[in-house]
Amino acid sequence: MLIEEIALRNPQAYSRLQALDHTPEGTSYRVDRGISHALNEGYLPFNHFAHLSQATLQNPGRVIDVFEGGCGQGRASGDLKRGIKFRFDPTMLNKFEPSEVRAWRRSLDGQTLEGLGNAITTSGITLTQAHATEAQNTDPRFQMDKIVVGDLGTYSLTTPDRFDFIFDSFGVAFHRPLEAILAYSRILRDGGIGIMRVVDGFPEDLQTMVQLMQESCLRVLICGKPTNSGVPIAELLFTKEGGQ
Ligand SMILES: C[S@@+](CC[C@H](N)C(=O)[O-])C[C@H]1O[C@@H](n2cnc3c(N)ncnc32)[C@H](O)[C@@H]1O
Repeated sequence: MLIEEIALRNPQAYSRLQALDHTPEGTSYRVDRGISHALNEGYLPFNHFAHLSQATLQNPGRVIDVFEGGCGQGRASGDLKRGIKFRFDPTMLNKFEPSEVRAWRRSLDGQTLEGLGNAITTSGITLTQAHATEAQNTDPRFQMDKIVVGDLGTYSLTTPDRFDFIFDSFGVAFHRPLEAILAYSRILRDGGIGIMRVVDGFPEDLQTMVQLMQESCLRVLICGKPTNSGVPIAELLFTKEGGQ
């Protein structure tokens, strides 16, 4: 696994999140969620494994490049290579998912979602070096190929890396959506797919975020929302069109 460290341009801006990154287990701020959590807590009927296996079929002979924004210890990216046995968890936070999403998720219960192995590369970013060290101590067959320790804004401005699929579950988009939108518009390949969870009203309302996405060549394909309008979360599936 490659670890790339990039200097924070404005360390003060990230100090609160870095402190949370070191919060011990047992709090609601988690850095170790696997892909089951992303699936169980989502508001869209989106299956990362199915999407990636379709992408490999559509691109024979080419490896599919995946990026996780705010990867923490990299568990979810590891799961994409390894595969999981999915368990529908009715006790998850997500009491307000639309009924059709719940039905879809329930239909996956007990299914083995096959890992993509070497058909994908996985890269991710986190603010905290300890996460990269933790990821390095996992089974080398399923480790992330690269973890960047630094802030997504700086990385996206300086890297030549481009990705076919970006996912961000309680990661950068949840905490710094505007930074995430601008960064994903740079590093997502044309025609690529992204999925991210944002907080409506933090710091901008959802409509403003969607508008910024449009201005940045990102088109929202589906916006998944909780049934209770008092829960200000949205999950956005998007693609990139007309970028460079
Ligand atoms: C709540 S944790 C979630 C980790 C993982 N996705 C999970 O669900 O377990 C938030 C992650 O986003 C990272 N993060 C937040 N803002 C970031 C930024 N601007 N640039 C890079 N990483 C960031 C944090 O360092 C941390 O790894």
